[in-house]
Amino acid sequence: MKYCQDGLRADDARARTVATHMNPIIDFINANRDRYLAELKTYLAIPSISALPEHAGDVRRCAEWTAAELTRIGLQNVRLEETPGHPIVYGEWLGAPDAPTMLFYGHYDVQPVDPVDLWESPPFEATIRDGEIYARGAADDKGQIFMHFKAIEAHLKTGRLPINVKVVLEGEEEVGSANLDDYIKAHKAQLAADVVVISDSPMFDRGIPSICYGLRGLAYFQIDLRGTASDLHSGSFGGAVANPAFVLAQILAGAKDKSGKIKIPGFYDKVRELAPEERAEFARLPFKEAKYRKDLGAPKLFGESGYTTLERVWGRPTFEVNGLLAGFTGEGAKTVIPAVAMAKISTRLVPDQDPDEIAKLIEAWLQKTAPKTVEVKLTKMHGGKPWMTSFDNKFVQAAARAIELGFRERPVFNREGGSIPVVSTFSEELGLPTVLFGIGLPDENAHAPNEKLDLSNFHNGVIASAHLYNELATAGA
Ligand code: BES
Ligand code: MN
Ligand code: MN
Repeated sequence: MKYCQDGLRADDARARTVATHMNPIIDFINANRDRYLAELKTYLAIPSISALPEHAGDVRRCAEWTAAELTRIGLQNVRLEETPGHPIVYGEWLGAPDAPTMLFYGHYDVQPVDPVDLWESPPFEATIRDGEIYARGAADDKGQIFMHFKAIEAHLKTGRLPINVKVVLEGEEEVGSANLDDYIKAHKAQLAADVVVISDSPMFDRGIPSICYGLRGLAYFQIDLRGTASDLHSGSFGGAVANPAFVLAQILAGAKDKSGKIKIPGFYDKVRELAPEERAEFARLPFKEAKYRKDLGAPKLFGESGYTTLERVWGRPTFEVNGLLAGFTGEGAKTVIPAVAMAKISTRLVPDQDPDEIAKLIEAWLQKTAPKTVEVKLTKMHGGKPWMTSFDNKFVQAAARAIELGFRERPVFNREGGSIPVVSTFSEELGLPTVLFGIGLPDENAHAPNEKLDLSNFHNGVIASAHLYNELATAGA
């Protein structure tokens, strides 16, 4: 792998020539900005929360809106592909027989909105304040996929696309994509392409666009402990039996040492150490740790010793407790020994860790650690493999040129701590490289109250995406 944050210089002259031929498309985009916002507001108004069964109808309505939009922008063979869960939306434009094919993936489902009282404007009434559009899904991921809808439209309404396009939009990404891998495996010929494009990640920072070349993987679990058949009076029985809440706390406390190292035997065996060159590149990025800490509201940052914050988030695995439930948590006091205790835990994984292998290690560790005084059950939930590409890949470089054309800033190359498990499926099942073309910002509150999208990034992103199709076509030719 080549580590180089400014590999674009040699292409500058070429990039300027391409820009001229793009003029009618850019003019179309600039002339349609207000319409884009009105349409995006309509899209963001559909509460497509995939996790909540009561919103299943809204998720479908959102799939239908998405499909209608794909038809409006000029795609063909648009359809809903039914799955055992929420539908996948498919559309294509294959009018450039000699050009490469881009497979565009994104998701139209969104996260739940709770705690809803913390929203400053209703999550499904998109509201513009200070150059940002606030709504659930604004950044993750409706706003970012809508940017591509408009870039595709700009090409098709002013002429033709320079590249063939296949669009796959999922309605179950936020709940672990249970049906996506099967769909991909069953439609290999239909999905054949040269490169995957995904816009579902933040850029490095405000004013610092980036191309992301690595994602962490994920393995998610629930741990259930049972101590007794029923809750017990803590006076009558306290001292005679183990308390599962306490046992759970002991087990979890044993998962890491004070320096943040994970103590599960074998956990680090497959971890690819960060290369010295890569650590040097991370260190060159304009990361402001004091501001980062302050923005997070953390009294002090904490992570695995021996690594910087960026290294910890991008290049090291984690073990986290996502939720804990046990005993009496209401107002006042109740003298009780709970019968059960539960924890949701997850690990973020880095190359070359494998979520199935990690699941086995965690199962073995739990069985060994849990005392005989409790029954313990580990349930595996969703997961996904980590991913990393070489950023001298020709499509990654093409994407970097497109970012520079759209944002007038040379992008940096970054990794991300989040997970998009389908990226490794595209690689393994279809043999495709992926380009992560994210235009969100790290502080846009994805999965949190007051999610938002910066509108100047959105508009620059539409222009960058329009350039992207050109640059990919040239790179792949
Ligand atoms: N858009 C995110 C993935 C992401 C987040 C990429 C941050 C890069 C940086 C995606 O919608 C998401 O939330 N993914 C889940 C994974 C999943 C299996 C539920 C995640 O990362 O927790
Ligand atoms: Mn997303
Ligand atoms: Mn998400």
